[in-house]
Amino acid sequence: MSQFATYGSYPTTRLRRNRADHWTRRLVAETRLTVDDLIWPIFLTEGSGVREPVASMPGVDRVSVDVVPDLAALAVQNGIPAVAPFPNTPEALRTPDGTEALNPDNLMCRAIRAIKAVAPDLGVITDVALDPYTTHGHDGLLVDGVILNDETLALLTQQAVLLAAAGTDVVAPSDMMDGRIGSIRQALDDGGHTGVRILSYAAKYASAFYGPFRDAVGSGVKLAGDKKTYQMDPANSDEALREVAFDLQEGADMVMVKPGIIYLDIVRRVRETFAVPTFAYHVSGEYAMLRAAGQAGWLNYDRSLMETLLAFKRAGASGVLTYAALDAARLLREGIGK
Ligand code: PBG
Repeated sequence: MSQFATYGSYPTTRLRRNRADHWTRRLVAETRLTVDDLIWPIFLTEGSGVREPVASMPGVDRVSVDVVPDLAALAVQNGIPAVAPFPNTPEALRTPDGTEALNPDNLMCRAIRAIKAVAPDLGVITDVALDPYTTHGHDGLLVDGVILNDETLALLTQQAVLLAAAGTDVVAPSDMMDGRIGSIRQALDDGGHTGVRILSYAAKYASAFYGPFRDAVGSGVKLAGDKKTYQMDPANSDEALREVAFDLQEGADMVMVKPGIIYLDIVRRVRETFAVPTFAYHVSGEYAMLRAAGQAGWLNYDRSLMETLLAFKRAGASGVLTYAALDAARLLREGIGK
């Protein structure tokens, strides 16, 4: 007999009673998605007045820095707590060692300043990794076919300090090098940026679901090989806990699991094991699938989206990075998905 036998049984107990009306469903709902749970990633590109669609991500544009204030204003109007910019670095500025990442006037730094100028209270979360800046599309230094760990740390650490100096609230190392959190925390503190938070992409898997993102930042076509020597093996779950434990010890304020929907088991384990703010990334491929099926008329995009985002909360996520943040904010207002 299962433990539930003591709680009643059919026909005395009928579980459908609590589902019978909207008002009762509202009262007994165990999880809720609100606009407070949303982080909106935005793509940057060079130029002025540019809003160019990302082909593999319907509804998502790359925008030039002068357009960024409009997006920041939209985020604020919609009540979204934070945005996460990503750069599509011009080809000419990509190098094998990704030094454009250390340029104080690169797309990211200009975007941070542009956001803070119009929306000082909107959270800004910026990725720390070299892939949008390297000619080979890897997150670290590539020498003789090997991604160097400790040599990469030095660059990532400078990148994080630069983003902090430009005004970011949160740095989000997404590179999966060993030891990056400790190195970055130390440098931020030494540089007087003790208030800058670290959201660690702690359990980031080598996933095929990042494809559309790599199109958006222009790193996909260039990617030499794969990222399996630094991003995690999708087969592993215990290892995710070790990654999170290391990052927390090194000073991470919040951790992330990525991708999101197909790794909800990891979100649940991380949240239950560590009880720390745990975010999940509803990644580009997961977003594109919903959009594509919606456009084909095979799924109701609005409803599938809201169910997807609620699933993150049910699994224990504190919040979700999603390209659909604006859609979700609107749908929440309209009561869709209730
Ligand atoms: C870069 C980075 C990636 C994503 C976020 N930061 C791609 C990658 O690791 O190749 C993916 C986001 C998405 O697919 O939506 N380090």
